[in-house]
Amino acid sequence: MIDLRSDTVTHPTPAMRKAMSEAELGDDVFGDDPTVNALEERAAELLGKEAALFVASGTMGNLVAQLGHLGRGQETIAGASAHIVSDEQAGHAVVVGTSIRQMPERPDGTWDLAELDDAFRDPRDLHEPISGLVALENTHAHSMGQPLSLEYTRQVAEIAHAHRVPLHVDGARFFNAAIALGVSGRELAAPADSVTFCLSKGLACPIGSMVVGSRDFVARARRGRKLVGGGMRQVGVVAAAGLVALSDGPDGTIARLAEDHANARRLAEGLAQMDGLESAGGLAQPATGPLDPGRVTTNFVIFRVRRDRAAFLDALEARGILMVEYTHGTIRAVTHYGIDAAAIDRVIAASAAALLETSAVGVPART
Ligand SMILES: Cc1ncc(COP(=O)(O)O)c(C=O)c1O
Repeated sequence: MIDLRSDTVTHPTPAMRKAMSEAELGDDVFGDDPTVNALEERAAELLGKEAALFVASGTMGNLVAQLGHLGRGQETIAGASAHIVSDEQAGHAVVVGTSIRQMPERPDGTWDLAELDDAFRDPRDLHEPISGLVALENTHAHSMGQPLSLEYTRQVAEIAHAHRVPLHVDGARFFNAAIALGVSGRELAAPADSVTFCLSKGLACPIGSMVVGSRDFVARARRGRKLVGGGMRQVGVVAAAGLVALSDGPDGTIARLAEDHANARRLAEGLAQMDGLESAGGLAQPATGPLDPGRVTTNFVIFRVRRDRAAFLDALEARGILMVEYTHGTIRAVTHYGIDAAAIDRVIAASAAALLETSAVGVPART
């Protein structure tokens, strides 16, 4: 199968498997696992922050970051389509005890900065919650993985800090953003007070995410991790893969993300030629007409088929290709480690055949 449902489907590289089998281990809740400690130091160094914490997933990373920044009854400002708003089972409310004020988002994933400035609550008004956090998502998933620029991140941080509120970045695909923008992770993280990034997506590790920030913040997040049952023991066995991912040199998996971006663009260029397939609309844009490959700047391709979506996906699957239903009737394909240009060419050919098959049999269009 060529599995483009997500970059989470990647399997660890041979260098990761070797490192995992040889990892030195200890009990991480006691702070005794040397491999985890090395990974946390490396993540902090890469993002230019004081400390880092290894957690089980991106969702747990965002949750413990919120626990580290917020008190009960406070409010986070985040984009309306953000993962922390709609894809984390309202953990902010259930576990952290906070609300989220949702910002309208533009097709490039950004917010109007005047609207952001306006979104902070008045701390003197007894009726209102207290604004306690601003959370960006970079890359921004629903806009087809647009990377938010360093300049924009700086502007958002400046406004947040003027209101004495920290900035968290949900960087599930933070290094995709950095690579696409041509800046270092350290530069892109500089304006933020904390960043979560996933090892288990484009970086090809089997498990894990990192939360980085100040020493004090990470100490609070570490307490939060224990609260949600995320204190793991000889977890160096998986942290070892993260150390390989974040290493310099040929075994590291950050620099190679550029290949995923080129492959996503190649796929979009192929799909854009096809009759019966069109732009996703919404944040993924443009509203009508063909898919615009120029908007594919990281590893997401989001589009719409004019005929039956499920029939198209079934026809693709019958040809050995997996894509996934995405929001508002769209389809998402995500490139990643293990998918090369030849695989993309097979996907393009199979998509053309699947479109032909699903339109020839008169499958009714879904509304
Ligand atoms: C933007 C974003 N944030 C957070 C997450 C959560 O990551 P995980 O699946 O590791 O919990 C995801 C997962 O897809 C994501 O896309």
